[in-house]
Amino acid sequence: MEVSDKTQSAEYNRALEVKRFDDTKAGVKGLVDAGVGKVPKIFIAPSNDHADFPTCQQPDLLVPVINLGGLYSDRHKEIVNEVRIASEKWGFFQVVNHGIPLNLLEGMIQGVKKFNEQALEVKKQFYSRDLNRTVRFNSNYDLYQSKAANWRDTLAFTKAAVDHDPQKLPQVCREVTLEYANHVVKLGDQLFGLLSEALELSPDYLTREMECAKFYTCVCHYYPVCPEPELTLGAGKHSDPAFLTILLQDEIGGLQILHENQWVNVDPISGGLVVNIGDFLQAISNDKLKSVQHRVLANRVGPRVSVAYFLKGEIATKPYGPIKELVSDENPPVYKEFSIEEYQGKFFSQGLDEKSTLDHFKL
Ligand code: OGA
Ligand code: NI
Repeated sequence: MEVSDKTQSAEYNRALEVKRFDDTKAGVKGLVDAGVGKVPKIFIAPSNDHADFPTCQQPDLLVPVINLGGLYSDRHKEIVNEVRIASEKWGFFQVVNHGIPLNLLEGMIQGVKKFNEQALEVKKQFYSRDLNRTVRFNSNYDLYQSKAANWRDTLAFTKAAVDHDPQKLPQVCREVTLEYANHVVKLGDQLFGLLSEALELSPDYLTREMECAKFYTCVCHYYPVCPEPELTLGAGKHSDPAFLTILLQDEIGGLQILHENQWVNVDPISGGLVVNIGDFLQAISNDKLKSVQHRVLANRVGPRVSVAYFLKGEIATKPYGPIKELVSDENPPVYKEFSIEEYQGKFFSQGLDEKSTLDHFKL
């Protein structure tokens, strides 16, 4: 039949175009460097993607900013309370006075820029989709699963690389990456302490009992300038595959979260870090803390750089379910137990823009 033939040939071409793009190993930046004036078809999001929800027009509706100064003194209780409210109501907050030196934040952003802007021949050596590699660079980890590719290239590495194989990290950003990793791990422990208290658990519950911060994957994103930002996205709508995400973003902006059925901008603040609850923490808190969907817009201005640490458990097969102290007859478990391995199996088998992975584990 003519119609299905057309569909098939369109699909065939897309597969071919995707493969051709992947084979360049140059990512989206390669396209921009080659001077594309239009967004190639494989990146074009379905027309309803951008306008699925309206953009928030209320200037006073802002993602909470939490000042961590005085964390271990007079302001401790107040900070716990602010973290609780933000994590229940928004699933996102920004922290300032977090103790990570501001020049290190800037250095990390510059390091990621340098990695992406170095000679292609060097960068290409990192290009891989092999999830067993502890350091890998590619464009769109879900390139072969998603309906539309995103305007983004990513360097990813795990805690295993940082701790045991640092020489595998790209030389141009190795030193700053190792230093920043050290600080993020410490901040992660502090945040899990606050979140444990916010859940009325002992302060070391999430770190010691649940081992939420034993491991991490870090993704360093590079969003090149985009000639037609209304046609594509920097990152499609998703929630995060982690207990907690600590995100460093530069001053460009474009991150939005879905709050009360509106897209709310997470505006960059000087020296701030964005923190958000991931799917695993929503599950073990039995929906008390919210893993909120978010996306990144493409932009005519840029490039934009961001660095996201996904804090997670180390043992891929360890079963996680709602914490028993948080369930009762009135508040029965919402999720069955699942392991990080099972979750990631689902997560990596579909596009970033598809159904929430967490839904697969609802009781
Ligand atoms: C992510 C993410 C947001 C950003 O990596 O999961 O949502 O601002 N990143 O790059
Ligand atoms: Ni995310």
